[in-house]
This record gives sequence, structure tokens and C-alpha cells, in this order.
Amino acid sequence: MSKSPIIVALDYDSAEEALQLVDRLQGSIDFFKVGKQLFTRTGPEIVRQLRSRGVEVFLDLKFHDIPETVRKAVKSCVDLEVRFLTIHTSGGSEMMQFALQGAEGSATEILGVTVLTSMNEVGMHEIGIQGTVSDQVLSLATLAVNSGLKGLVCSPYEVSLIREKVSKSVLLVTPGIRSPEEAKGDQKRILSAAEAIEQGSSYLVVGRPITQAQDPVAAVQQMRASISGLKSEDKLKKI
Ligand code: C5P
Repeated sequence: MSKSPIIVALDYDSAEEALQLVDRLQGSIDFFKVGKQLFTRTGPEIVRQLRSRGVEVFLDLKFHDIPETVRKAVKSCVDLEVRFLTIHTSGGSEMMQFALQGAEGSATEILGVTVLTSMNEVGMHEIGIQGTVSDQVLSLATLAVNSGLKGLVCSPYEVSLIREKVSKSVLLVTPGIRSPEEAKGDQKRILSAAEAIEQGSSYLVVGRPITQAQDPVAAVQQMRASISGLKSEDKLKKI
């Protein structure tokens, strides 16, 4: 199978539903995201089952805790052979460095989450953070890169800003992807897969446009066709 930058989010309540989709997409998608919903239902067994099918796992548990606890939690993810996992960059540089120690010598890459896209300026001010969301994203992204993280999760709308002001080479993983029809009209703050890749996303996290599609296989094929020949699909490299 040729490499694809698409990671499908398995936002389900049971392992059966999740694995059914994985099996249906066999041959076209080899990277899946397990988040809090599925992981809390199934525990680490779902990750083992995915790994035994030979696919890569992005474990999206967004750790944010004291540094030593995060280091040990990251080590547990490494033992599960997850390829990507997430931590909150707002946990600070020491927490990020401890997280990196937990993954040392492994193929597991730690991605930093900056500001959740559900957060707006009012919400930030409520918890004592002044300035704009973009300022805060840039500040946390810079801290993350300076702390040694090689990847970030961000909105497709933040990609060009981060590429310009923080790092050209950092791995950027973006959710918020919709079909070209749905993505029309940017007031919804979503982009199509092709637009996100053109902005400079390294990987796309796609959930409902595939999981809720009448024909998920066709939805994947259509999305892959829409980005074939664009930068990331061609040059995708292991980090
Ligand atoms: O919206 P969709 O179903 O494609 O979301 C896929 C995944 O991306 C979900 O697991 C969701 O938690 C995550 N997501 C996110 N930030 C957004 C939108 C979705 O982290 N703005």
C-alpha cells in the first residue's frame, strides 16, 4: 500500500465497531487514531489489536500532569508500540522534556497540543490567559519546539502561521477536515483535505467524513484521489 497522510479517527464506543472499519479500510488506510472515547471503553487491548493487524496507532489521550507521571504514561504508550501520542504543551517545558525521555530510543513520536480549537478568546481570558488565540498558539508551539518536540496538532488554519513563525520542518497533524463541498465557506473553520495539504499539513486526522460515510471505502478513495500528487502524499517520510 502506498503511504497516505490520512489518519482515520476511530471515535466509537466499542472495539467491534472500530475493528470492523479498520478491516473494511484494509489496503487503503494504515494509520488510525484512538481517542479517549474508545480507549476508556476498551483499554489498551484495542491498541494491541490494531498493532496485531499491522496498522499504526495514534493514541490521542492528551496527557497533562506532573512531569514524572507523564514520563511514565508515555513509557506505557511506547510499550504498546504507538506511533504518535499527544500531550498538552500548556503542561510546560519540563513536562514536555520528561515526556520525551519516556519515549527515548523508541519509534513513538510525541505531538504537542497547543490551544484546543474549542477554545476562544473569552474562554482563554476566563482562565487568565490574555491576548489572542493565535498569539497563544504561537507561544506554545514555540515552547514545544524549543523543548524538543518534533510534532504538533493544530487546526489547518494555524498551519501556515506555525510554518512561517515557528518551524518549517515540524510535523503538523491537523483535524478539522471535511469534503470539498462541506469545506466551502470558511466560516466553519474547516478545510478540505487538499487545502490542508496545500497549507502544509503533514498528516490529516479524519473522523466523521469517513466513519459516518455511507461508503467509507469510497470516501477514503475520493479523499486520497483529491490529494494524490500533492506534496505530503509524495514526500511523506518517516520521522
Ligand atoms: O470532526 P471529525 O470527526 O473529523 O474529528 C476527527 C477527530 O479529530 C476527532 O477524534 C476529534 O476529537 C478531533 N478533532 C480535534 N479538533 C477539532 C476537530 C476534531 O481534535 N477541531
